[in-house]
Amino acid sequence: GKDKELIRGSWESLGNNKVPHGVVMFSRLFELDPALLSLFHYSTNCGSTQDCLSSPEFLDHVTKVMLVIDAAVSHLDDLHSLEDFLLNLGRKHQAVGVNTQSFAVVGESLLYMLQCSLGQAYTAPLRQAWLNMYSIVVAAMSRGWAK
Ligand code: HEM
Repeated sequence: GKDKELIRGSWESLGNNKVPHGVVMFSRLFELDPALLSLFHYSTNCGSTQDCLSSPEFLDHVTKVMLVIDAAVSHLDDLHSLEDFLLNLGRKHQAVGVNTQSFAVVGESLLYMLQCSLGQAYTAPLRQAWLNMYSIVVAAMSRGWAK
């Protein structure tokens, strides 16, 4: 439907290299919650937040995050096929000390990045479409915290 078109169209309009957009997203995330930086064990190797974000390890994580979003966008018609993958991804994030509450800030940072990158094309329906998809991804990842 309309939601899927909005998501696919906007994701495509970001271009093939999603890493710079991911950097904007994570800059925002670390600005909103600087404590998240310390969950990356390799964060001690860098000085400022900006230094961290340009380090290979951080760019690697940003790349991985963008690939997961890309997978979700590609599987909009069958998001449930990603459930096992996302549950395991949630487990890995529980193991490194991420709290499920942080996903709200991650979502806010994702929307911030979309707003920066899309400009006029960032509309209320588009925002809602992304929020809907993101909440499904977060719900699946959050199952990784269940005992
Ligand atoms: C791995 C932290 C959000 C996708 C990791 C690792 C850390 C981490 C410390 C292990 C080291 C590494 O691979 O670089 C965080 C924090 C987040 C966050 C603090 C925000 C609160 C996300 C999100 C996604 C994601 C939103 C995708 C939707 C991944 C992937 C891996 C990973 C794919 C690799 C897992 C594997 O090794 O199989 N994350 N992450 N992360 N993260 Fe995140």
